[in-house]
Amino acid sequence: MSDTEHQPAGSPAAGSPSGPARRHPLRLALPGDLPGPFRRSFWRSPVRGPWLASVLGLLLLGGVLVLFVTGLLSYAAYNPDLSPVNDTTPGKGWLGFYLFSWPTRPEWLYQVNQGLHVTLGLVLVPILLAKLWSVLPRLFEWPPLRSPAHAVERLSLFLLVGGGVFEFATGIMNIQQWYVFPGSFYTLHFYGAWVFVAALAVHATVKFPAVIRALRSRGLLRELRVSTAGTRQEAPDASPLVSPAPAAPTISRRGVLAFAGAGSLALLALSAGQSIGGPLRRTALLAPHGQAEGSGPGNFQVNVTVAESGVQARQTGASWRLILTGPGAGRPVTLTRGELLAMPQVSVRLPINCVEGWSTGDQEWTGVRLRELARLAGAEHPANALVESLQHGGAFGRVVLSAGQVSDPDSLLALRVNGADLSPDHGYPARVIVPASPGVHNTKWVAGMTFAS
Ligand code: HEM
Repeated sequence: MSDTEHQPAGSPAAGSPSGPARRHPLRLALPGDLPGPFRRSFWRSPVRGPWLASVLGLLLLGGVLVLFVTGLLSYAAYNPDLSPVNDTTPGKGWLGFYLFSWPTRPEWLYQVNQGLHVTLGLVLVPILLAKLWSVLPRLFEWPPLRSPAHAVERLSLFLLVGGGVFEFATGIMNIQQWYVFPGSFYTLHFYGAWVFVAALAVHATVKFPAVIRALRSRGLLRELRVSTAGTRQEAPDASPLVSPAPAAPTISRRGVLAFAGAGSLALLALSAGQSIGGPLRRTALLAPHGQAEGSGPGNFQVNVTVAESGVQARQTGASWRLILTGPGAGRPVTLTRGELLAMPQVSVRLPINCVEGWSTGDQEWTGVRLRELARLAGAEHPANALVESLQHGGAFGRVVLSAGQVSDPDSLLALRVNGADLSPDHGYPARVIVPASPGVHNTKWVAGMTFAS
């Protein structure tokens, strides 16, 4: 860092014979001449430095690791390798190396995974903002490119900051049902996650020695006991983040962490209820589905209503038939709703768990076991089942269930919920319910099932 960097804007560079009045019009600006944020002395907070960047970085590292793992599991829950019909990211190539057949037990698996993914994603927002604030001066570094090595470093930071902001922004837009993505949310969020996490892994590795140095220099607990009045800047040579012209402290490092932490706690309190359910649901003020009100058997969340699905009343009336196709050459089996109701009925208590993090809490579903329907179609041990809805055009109008999902005794073609017929919005005349599966795989307005051997 040269002395000229400490000088206020517009002052002549130290030791330079040329003041602003005699500067050549085409001369590139020196750091001392730079406007506003491009001048290092513009940034005056004495709490900025490696310590704060490291502590916030470590918090993000732990959180993002959990987000990444739950995000990968969230993709696995669609069983994308089972059939192209299920694959929300068909071009994934070897990025799907870890995929496995999604189980049906424990039945809370998907609820916990998605609740954690979405709630933690919200809770980390204030930490991410605090981290970006703590390193903001470096984003205005001048000159922007000094050498090929510097260009690579800047590119990696662009992928890190851009990837992080992109992942958090697209996730939040999705859970607020603001679907304005230029393409599939799944594809964008999936590839964005890999770019972000790769850049984060490089960043954390490169910065590891600096993190150790920073934490050794002040100690974590020691610094958390320091008040605003006692807050001191880090050594000027510790990092370009340390201001060359520090102002008097107006907040301690402890205060910055408490401020960001309070934001995180507020987001936790306003969103976690949508995933946990019960009385806490009423606290989920940030969740579009957190406040399902009213009474009656069908009073729980609906993502796509029958009106939005395009399914017509005449398709679900008396003329509706369920068509079951088996693996053999036999004729498909056709059943009316009355015939389905005359079959052995089973009741199970299961929630609908949405990819967007909300859960309906347990509802009592009544209907026919999927494995009974498979048997009826001539498939004693089906390898999988293609479920088709009356809904056309939606991403999940067709879904393939695995052998494990079809054979689970709690997997039903539900006809009733909480003691009443399904409402049109909940999938009347019949919908699929499979434990631990993503809500969108619990197909509504089912028209047919094809069992493969
Ligand atoms: C969302 C995650 C993160 C983002 C967006 C982010 C962003 C940045 C940026 C833009 C810089 C300034 C450029 C630089 O000094 O190279 C920086 C610096 C730094 N980051 Fe991160 N970072 C993240 C996570 C982490 C993690 C996980 C760690 C450590 C475990 C970490 C530790 C550091 C350190 C030690 C510095 C240097 C501070 C200095 O030079 O004084 N960061 N970070």
